[in-house]
Amino acid sequence: MNLETEYPIRTEKLSKKYIKSKFALNEVDIRIKSGKITGFLGVNGAGKTTTIKLLLGLLEPTSGKAYIFDEEVKSEKAWLKKYIGYLPEFPRFPGFLTPVELLKIYGEFYGMEKGELSNRVRELLNLVELSDVENKKIKTFSKGMMQRVGLASALLNSPPLYILDEPTSGLDLLGQQLVKNIIRDQNSQGKTVFMSSHLLKEVQEMCSDIILLHGGKVLWSGEIKELLSSNINTNVRLNVDRTDETVKLIKDLSFIKSFTVNGNMIDMVVESQDNIPEISTILVKNNIKIYEIKIETLNIENAVLNLLKGDESE
Ligand SMILES: Nc1ncnc2c1ncn2[C@@H]1O[C@H](COP(=O)(O)OP(=O)(O)O)[C@@H](O)[C@H]1O
Ligand SMILES: [Mg+2]
Repeated sequence: MNLETEYPIRTEKLSKKYIKSKFALNEVDIRIKSGKITGFLGVNGAGKTTTIKLLLGLLEPTSGKAYIFDEEVKSEKAWLKKYIGYLPEFPRFPGFLTPVELLKIYGEFYGMEKGELSNRVRELLNLVELSDVENKKIKTFSKGMMQRVGLASALLNSPPLYILDEPTSGLDLLGQQLVKNIIRDQNSQGKTVFMSSHLLKEVQEMCSDIILLHGGKVLWSGEIKELLSSNINTNVRLNVDRTDETVKLIKDLSFIKSFTVNGNMIDMVVESQDNIPEISTILVKNNIKIYEIKIETLNIENAVLNLLKGDESE
C-alpha cells in the first residue's frame, strides 16, 4: 500500500468474460494519475461499470490484475472501503433506514468516533442538500435523492480516492451542478477522482484526463487538451487577397489534407493547429495579405467520433 503513488489506480491486462458471452473487457491497461479528475468515457456497454467493479473487487477478473495504491485487489478487499469513496451506477440502500441512520452505520464500520461521526453526517447531508429529509425513510426517496445519499456515503470518511460510476445520472440540472461542484471541491483538496460518464460535455467540463473505452478495449487515453490539439484534423478558414496565388503556395504542403476555394475564402483541413504558423509564414513571405484566419477548434465530440469511426474502419 502506497498512498503517495503516482497512479492510485492501475490495471495490467485486465480482462472479464461473463459466462456465455464475449469479453466485456479485453486486456485493459489503465493508469489514473494522482490528484487529477480522470473521465472514463464510453458508450453504453463499453465496459466501464465492469472495470469499476473489478477495481473494487466486486467482480473477479477472468485474467489480469488491478492495483489500488499499488496493492493488488484480491479476495481480501475490506481495506479498499477505507481508501475509496465509491458511488455505484445505481445506488441501493436498505429502505427502512433514514439517511442519518445509514451514514452512522457506515461511519461505525469505518471506526469513526461518535461525536465526530454525528457532526460529519450533519455536514454531509447539508452538503448534498438532504437535511430536510434526513429523518425520512430511504424507501420514499427518488432516484436523484438516492444518488445524493450515495455521494454522502462515498464522502463519509474523506478517502483519498473516489471512483464514481456515472455520478450525475438521474439528476436534474441543479442536482448535476451540485454533484459536479462537490467533485471539483474534493479534487481541489487533493483527492484523486475517477468518474465514468457517457456524456462528453460533462467529461470535457470536469476532467483533465480521459480514458476512452470501446468494446472492452482502451481506444485512447491521455490529457483532453492533447486529444483536442493533435493527430486529429482541424478545420481552418483563410480570408486572403489573392486566392489563386495562395493555393499555389500551399497545395503541396503535406499537412494540408484538403481545401476548397469560395471567393476570397479558402477552407482547408489541416493535420493540427500546430500547422497554422507555418502556413501564415509562407503567405506573409510571399506578400499575400491575410485578412482573417479562423480555426474551428475541434470539439471533444468530433474528436471522439473520429476515434470511434477510426476503430470501426479497422
Ligand atoms: N452480469 C453480466 N452478465 C453478462 N454480461 C454482462 C453483465 N454485466 C455487463 N455485461 C455485458 O458486458 C458489457 C459491458 O457492460 P458494462 O460494463 O455495464 O458497460 P458500461 O458500464 O460501459 O455501459 C456489455 O456488453 C454488457 O451487456
Ligand atoms: Mg455502466
